Amino acid sequence: MSSTPLLQVRGLTKRYLGLTAVDGLSYEVEAGSIVGLIGPNGSGKSTSIDCVSGFQRADAGDWFLDGHKLRDVPPHRIAALGLTRTFQTVRAYEDLSLLENLRVAAQESDGHGWFSALRRSAPLRESEARAAQRAGALLESVGLSRYADAPAAVLSYGQRKLLAIAASVMARPRLVILDEPVAGVNPTMVRHIEEVIREFNAQGVALLIVEHNVDFIMNLCQRVVVLESGRKIADGPPGLIRSDPRVLEAYLGPGGARALEATP
Ligand SMILES: Nc1ncnc2c1ncn2[C@@H]1O[C@H](COP(=O)(O)OP(=O)(O)OP(=O)(O)O)[C@@H](O)[C@H]1O
Ligand SMILES: [Mg+2]
Repeated sequence: MSSTPLLQVRGLTKRYLGLTAVDGLSYEVEAGSIVGLIGPNGSGKSTSIDCVSGFQRADAGDWFLDGHKLRDVPPHRIAALGLTRTFQTVRAYEDLSLLENLRVAAQESDGHGWFSALRRSAPLRESEARAAQRAGALLESVGLSRYADAPAAVLSYGQRKLLAIAASVMARPRLVILDEPVAGVNPTMVRHIEEVIREFNAQGVALLIVEHNVDFIMNLCQRVVVLESGRKIADGPPGLIRSDPRVLEAYLGPGGARALEATP
């Protein structure tokens, strides 16, 4: 028997009025692994991760991080338990510097909160010093250190994606969920983001990656989960997913079949 998976999702269901956006979804993410979550537009990828990370309330299902039940747990508590995420639409505090953006990300999940921040206790000062050091190191490792003291507003779209990824690992999570980390990003930046993800993974962070860039997913992931109309239609290693008839059919919209072919 293998040990308990890091993330276990069981029967996750989310309805919007007449529409079942996510329908009885179950999957697992093993500690230290990289798992892809793909599917056509509107197949329920973002909705499912919004539920798992506490940003939306599900109608049914249970999910566990290392055995901790996460259903009905608010996002900041889920982050404190070791699961963080980025958003499909990049979010940054525009007027804050990159270093400050990362430190806010750490505060959002370190359990000290703003009340403790006001009191500025000794443990808090220590944790602030550690956070400042980690923020600097993270900016270095994603290649943004020259903007450390500049406001996030100066960053390009691709650089914002990088900042969001750096922010997601700030509090040393065990699992990070990335929603479309390379959408709309040029090929050089795609390769750079891939390297950054590999580096964080090598440090022990597991990743669940939602992406339409199939090559990116197939290169990075040990396992790929495929959604169609809110349901899981496949779950397996990239080689099997590329040739799965149900997956090919789901992608047979405009350019769909080609999207699954490996680029030479
Ligand atoms: N707040 C909402 N209210 C009503 N319906 C919604 C809402 N959010 C999402 N939906 C619907 O739920 C379904 C799943 O949407 P979701 O955004 O999860 O898909 P997705 O797989 O992330 O798509 P994409 O690849 O385009 O980002 C879609 O039909 C969408 O229109
Ligand atoms: Mg989405």
